[in-house]
Amino acid sequence: MDCNKRPENMARITTVELANEFIEQQIKLIKEQVGDRKVLLALSGGVDSSVVAALLIKAIGKQLYCVHVNHGLMRKGESEQVIEIFKNGLDANLIYVDATDRFLGLLENVSEPEKKRKIIGNEFIKVFEEEARKLKGIEFLAQGTIYPDIIESDGVKAHHNVGGLPEDLKFELVEPVKLLYKDEVRVVGYALGLPKGMVDRQPFPGPGLGVRCLGAITRDRLHALREADAILREEFDKNGLATKVWQYFIAVPNMKSVGVKNDKRYEGWPAIIRAVNTVDAMTATIEEIPYSVLHKITERITHEVDGINRVLLDLTPKPIGTIEWE
Ligand code: XMP
Repeated sequence: MDCNKRPENMARITTVELANEFIEQQIKLIKEQVGDRKVLLALSGGVDSSVVAALLIKAIGKQLYCVHVNHGLMRKGESEQVIEIFKNGLDANLIYVDATDRFLGLLENVSEPEKKRKIIGNEFIKVFEEEARKLKGIEFLAQGTIYPDIIESDGVKAHHNVGGLPEDLKFELVEPVKLLYKDEVRVVGYALGLPKGMVDRQPFPGPGLGVRCLGAITRDRLHALREADAILREEFDKNGLATKVWQYFIAVPNMKSVGVKNDKRYEGWPAIIRAVNTVDAMTATIEEIPYSVLHKITERITHEVDGINRVLLDLTPKPIGTIEWE
């Protein structure tokens, strides 16, 4: 039997009962596969890796070693949430690596989008590899591969950052949610007791805010982007848009315009709102945002975020615009 093929008769996991059944089954399988050996997991804080972490903690506890790499391009509060939930809440073996300076150092003066992506991806593997080498006796690598990753690629999570570990770091894979669709992973996440903010998280690209801080990244502009993005998310949440819009974020280009603040000339960057709906991210439509919400967001961002003096709305569907700006 092809273990990468979802059986025809496998019921869609839509209820807590079905999720619990799945969890019990997986705990048994994980214990059988791993025994008393050690497992490593790159925990980004995204839905898939978080659910895999919670599942493994339930099955094998401290035999799981989670590594969370903060590349300095996370959204506001994300790394803190990973530490709070997994280290403080679930008592996980969590290794937190703040690699902000490494990433931002390498990205300095790099403006070409694909180059930026490559630097971020390669450095991520390097940091993860360093941590993997420090830990002795790891035999397994857990991954949050889900069924669409298998269908759409050759079985390797296409954008999965640990896909490129060197040959001598060979681990057997543990992929407990590889036959599940995203909606099922979320139901399992709820059943495992993960908080709503983590289970319902919108997709976030591996290179993070790096592809939204357009052109060569600077710390001040990255900071402005992170703060503006946090305000957008807060207002979407408050106004019931967080559950209606598939992906929404701010992009900040490296250009300034003239404005006025406190009766003085104030040059600042524009914050561009992108809010799209899609089924598979191949095409996307523009969600209509009430003007009252847009006004509120504009007022908050321009008053609360240093360096931003305008707020713009991107009305471009995909195609022709990609969802991300870079
Ligand atoms: P685009 O911009 O291609 O994005 O319309 C489609 C979806 O993919 C996400 N995306 C990425 N995810 N690494 C990722 O893990 C990347 O380099 C990357 N680029 C885009 C994007 O956020 C959207 O959901």
